[in-house]
Parts: sequence; structure tokens; C-alpha cells
Amino acid sequence: MAGSRHILLIIGGGIAAYKSLELIRRLRETGAKVTPVLTRAGAEFVTPLAVSALAGVKVYSDLFDLTDEAEMGHIELSRAADLIVVAPATADLMAKMAAGLAGDLASTLLLATDKRVLVAPAMNVRMWDHPANQRNVAQLKSDGVLFVGPNEGEMACGEFGPGRMSEPAEIVAAVEAALGQGPLAGRHVVVTSGPTHEPIDPVRYIANRSSGAQGTAMAVALRDLGARVTFVTGPAVVPPPQGVEVVRVETAAQMLAAVQAAMPADAAVFAAAVADWRVEGASDRKIKKDGGKLPTLNFTENPDILATVSTKGPARPSLVVGFAAETNDVEANATAKRARKGCDWIVANDVSYGSGVMGGTDNTVTLITDAGAEHWPRMGKTAVATELARRIAAALG
Ligand code: CTP
Repeated sequence: MAGSRHILLIIGGGIAAYKSLELIRRLRETGAKVTPVLTRAGAEFVTPLAVSALAGVKVYSDLFDLTDEAEMGHIELSRAADLIVVAPATADLMAKMAAGLAGDLASTLLLATDKRVLVAPAMNVRMWDHPANQRNVAQLKSDGVLFVGPNEGEMACGEFGPGRMSEPAEIVAAVEAALGQGPLAGRHVVVTSGPTHEPIDPVRYIANRSSGAQGTAMAVALRDLGARVTFVTGPAVVPPPQGVEVVRVETAAQMLAAVQAAMPADAAVFAAAVADWRVEGASDRKIKKDGGKLPTLNFTENPDILATVSTKGPARPSLVVGFAAETNDVEANATAKRARKGCDWIVANDVSYGSGVMGGTDNTVTLITDAGAEHWPRMGKTAVATELARRIAAALG
């Protein structure tokens, strides 16, 4: 918990500022002290009175006044906190941070601080995707600024995509992770993610439609609860997250070797869509057309990473979580899969055509444990991951 910690919360100008009121409440519930700073644009969305009433202290604003400077100068204000949180972090604020501008109180504090900074971006999807903003994001990440979100989804402006500010609970989890205080602090969790590519020859391969979105969301959620995460990923569409150890692999055999090399772990989460088969005797030369004669591919079965880790070796993690991609009889198939593979939990998802799960942003999950099957409502992959990570933390105790 972030108890007895001091957080300087900078509230930028965006519609998501209303969520920052809830964020203040939740941070204070963890025992943290919150000193709010409201930018001029932020004050267009939430009032200084609401912010200071929730924080229980005065709010600092852009209007630098002499009393403030006499009471606590901006340098001291930027250093007294254990962590600076910027929520919502607008494109404008991030551009100022990336450029080192200090034309107002918020940007001055961000430039003067010697503490870690966590930003929760919120903006229109086109603004987020704009090369100028992406340059600033890359610059801030390489400067060591921590990010939580943005999430993908429907935006206040009606467009869809990345740009929504993370939910207050996710920001609180990221704060705790940044302070090294989450419930998984000191725990090691291995996560597999993405598809595998099984070569036919040097230019061709067998693959599947997995984007790596669910595995990446799992790694983020576990990291945000304080876990040390080893993220073993196949060639995914979604980039791997910051703040985890990334091991890139191509094939199922490489994935198994990487997972075994990462042991011991307290928990392992197998979200990868591993190819069940590989081409036996893949050619090390490009297979050429041969006067209309068709090549024959012989398949052989890949090792089952989840079953291997669940059932073999002394280094079995105390909690092994598998996923099950099913197109029909989801609960029955997943229950049988849990028994067959020897894992503790199975997170079953319906990947039938029309479900939009494979490669999409949402998931409809059935969680199978020794207590039976739990049907979760349809939700975003991030929300699924946040809830699963919370359950994992509770199970590890
Ligand atoms: N898995 C694995 N190694 C494999 C195949 C699957 O680790 N070679 C893991 C997946 O990461 C997932 C779980 O096993 O956690 C179930 O994957 P799924 O594709 O649903 O099951 P399969 O074993 O492939 O069974 P089937 O294709 O018959 O449904």
C-alpha cells in the first residue's frame, strides 16, 4: 500500500480530470498524502474547491502567488513528494515535459523534481497517434518517466482507440508499483504472450491470429501490483510493456526453453497462443516452385509448455494459470483442459468467429478453478488482466 507516502498529483486539462477526483479519494484510502496541483487548463474541468476538499489540503495552482512561494517554494514542493503523478497528462503537458519547458507551475515542478514521475495520458486517439506525440512519449520513456495507459476504448469525443485515461484503480496500482509497494512486491511471475511462428523455410512460417494483447495486459497488471515479470513473447503485434524483462522468441521450442530458463517463479501465466504443430524438417533453403508439383508439409507436435511446467520438474510455480482458446462448449472443454494440463486455473475465452476476441480488444472469460467455473461479463482485455492479477496476488497471499 502507498501508506504514509506523499504524492504530488498534477491535474492537467482534459475531460478525464473528473476521474482525478476519484483518484485522490482512492490514493488517500491507501493512506497516502496527496498534494494537488491544478493547471490553468485543469481548472476549466474541475474546481480548485472540489480538488482541495477531497485532498484535505490546499490546492496549488498555476497562479504562482507570493504566499505560496513564501510557504513552500516550487523546488521544495517538487522534492517533498515521494512520487509525482500527472493525471490526466495531456499532449501539451507531455510535450512540455519532453522539451524541458518550465513556463508554468506544473511544468516547473516536473523539471525541478528529483523524484520519479508517473504519467496517465488522456487525449484524442489521433493526438495520441500523432508522430509528434509519439516522439514525446518515446523521449519521456527514455528519460525514465513511467506510464500507465492510455487505455483503448470509446472516447468522450466519440472516437475509438488508445487515448482514454486509465481508471483510478489502475493508476493506484501503478503508483504502488512505482513505490515498490504492491501486493506482489518481491514476487516473480513468468508470462507468455503472443503467437509463435513455426518456420516452413527461411521466408515462410505457420502462425495464428494472436496479437499478444491479453498477455501484454497481464504483464502490465502484474507489474503494476509490484511483481518482477519475465515476459516471454512470440512475434506479437502489440509492443511489449515497459518495466518488465522481455525475452523475445519465435517458435514454441524457443518459448519452452525461455520459460524454463526464467524459473523459479512464484506464478506463471500462459497467455501465448502457441502453435500446436511445427513443420517437421523445415527447409533451410527457400522452397522453390517445381513445375506445378505441390510441396508436401509434414507436421509434428510441439511441446506443451503449460503442461510441461505444470507437471514436470521440481521448480513448479505455486500457481500455474493457463488460457484456453475455445470455439464451442467453452466450459466443458476448458474444464477438461485444466485437468489434462495439470494447471491450477484456466482462463477460458470464446474465440469463435464473430466473438472478436482473437486480435480484438475485449474478452469474455470463464475462469475455471478447483472451485468450479465463474462466468465473467464481457470486458476489455485490460480489465480482465487487472482482475486476474488481483486474484493472483490474493492466491499467493
Ligand atoms: N499451450 C502451451 N504450449 C502449447 C500449446 C498450448 O503452453 N504447445 C498453452 C497456452 O498458452 C494456453 C493453454 O496451453 O495457456 C491452452 O492453449 P489452447 O490453444 O487453448 O489449447 P491446446 O493445448 O492447443 O488444445 P486444443 O488446441 O486441442 O484446444
